[in-house]
Amino acid sequence: MTTANHSIILISNEDDITHAVGEALTDIKDVTLDVRPGTLASVNGAAVQMVDQHNLIVFKLNADTDREAVAELREQVGARGTLLALSDGSISLAEAMELKQNGIDEILPFPISREVLTKELLALSGHRTQLPALMNDEDAPRMGHVVPVMPVRGGIGATTVAINLADALQQKTGMRRKTAAHRVALVDLDIQFGTVANALDLDPSDIFFRMASEQVNLDATFISQSMQQHDSGLDILAAPDRFAPIEALDRAQVDALVGHLQRGYDYVVIDMPRTLVEWIAPILTRAARLLMVTDTTVPSIRQAHRLIEFFSQERLDLPVDMVVNHEKKPMFAARHHVEAQKVLDRPLKYWLPDDPRHARQALDRGELLSDAAGGAPLTKAIRRMSETILTETKNADAAQPKTKK
Ligand SMILES: Nc1ncnc2c1ncn2[C@@H]1O[C@H](COP(=O)(O)OP(=O)(O)O)[C@@H](O)[C@H]1O
Ligand SMILES: [Mg+2]
Repeated sequence: MTTANHSIILISNEDDITHAVGEALTDIKDVTLDVRPGTLASVNGAAVQMVDQHNLIVFKLNADTDREAVAELREQVGARGTLLALSDGSISLAEAMELKQNGIDEILPFPISREVLTKELLALSGHRTQLPALMNDEDAPRMGHVVPVMPVRGGIGATTVAINLADALQQKTGMRRKTAAHRVALVDLDIQFGTVANALDLDPSDIFFRMASEQVNLDATFISQSMQQHDSGLDILAAPDRFAPIEALDRAQVDALVGHLQRGYDYVVIDMPRTLVEWIAPILTRAARLLMVTDTTVPSIRQAHRLIEFFSQERLDLPVDMVVNHEKKPMFAARHHVEAQKVLDRPLKYWLPDDPRHARQALDRGELLSDAAGGAPLTKAIRRMSETILTETKNADAAQPKTKK
């Protein structure tokens, strides 16, 4: 399970710091704070264990001795764990930059206002302070982009695309890629055969089973409680592990679900079922663009064509982009590629190379491609695809800033 247990450890010899950090976390229920007397340098041997047991390590900075202690610790723990230093303000910009290069994630001045300290502690410990945005969402102006991913046949790679595209859309930057530019939700709406939870080593979720069987009231609290927070930063609604009657979901429920998610996230990536059911209509209506994952065989292109025709009855102007999986973009289009584009009346826009070794490696480890094989051809191709989608959706935003649903 990756649902984070948020825990912070403070290494400090100074009462005013201990007091201030304690105060900053007073009203926060699901964060635990441990205090350990000492300095980062003095607890050195124990620090690795602290990284394993806590999301965030906070310490009072002693620039003279801590520079080495930080570098040493980073060498031992790699990218794991987040380090926050509180500095009395005497440190120079050059020193601060050197400390960041050595592996400190953030340096804050101390004293600092309680509000700012609370905010920083929560953000750095990976606490989802953004969830309230999902709760009291009614007049939030922002609407995230919905990107459904649809397979033309079983086993073509739609789930692989959905998961790793969602990851790439976060556009993580910074040292050790911890800061995400976008909040992304991933929803496994392949409710009968969903494999997202399996692929990422998460628990199945009962939300869609209950939506289908009990007509539960779908409020924002219920949705956010059902989401699992993956270490990558993705929030994920998994499929159930018991058989849910797929026809029993209804349009209104799915519409409400996706609408809620749009208010809380910048991108909502949906792993779609292959079955054509009534409730996919609201997803088509809300979609920024639909990605159709295919190969270039005649039966697959025919099926893609049929699906596009079907979707256009629901929404004529739905942008459908083709993703050819298991094939590198050819230098020159072969005849069957030209034929396919003609039949589909659109380009074969994205090409993802066949990369069984890395696809398998990620699956076996229950990891994202970016974690299991960051430099692999498939990982890079999905990243490039995400960059195009980010540009296109941002351009669409710029074209019509205030007229969204
Ligand atoms: N580009 C690729 N190269 C090699 N193997 C892939 C590729 N894309 C997906 N796979 C593998 O194909 C299998 C089916 O993928 P999956 O994403 O579950 O398909 P779908 O969701 O369409 O049924 C998985 O084992 C996956 O790792
Ligand atoms: Mg799938």
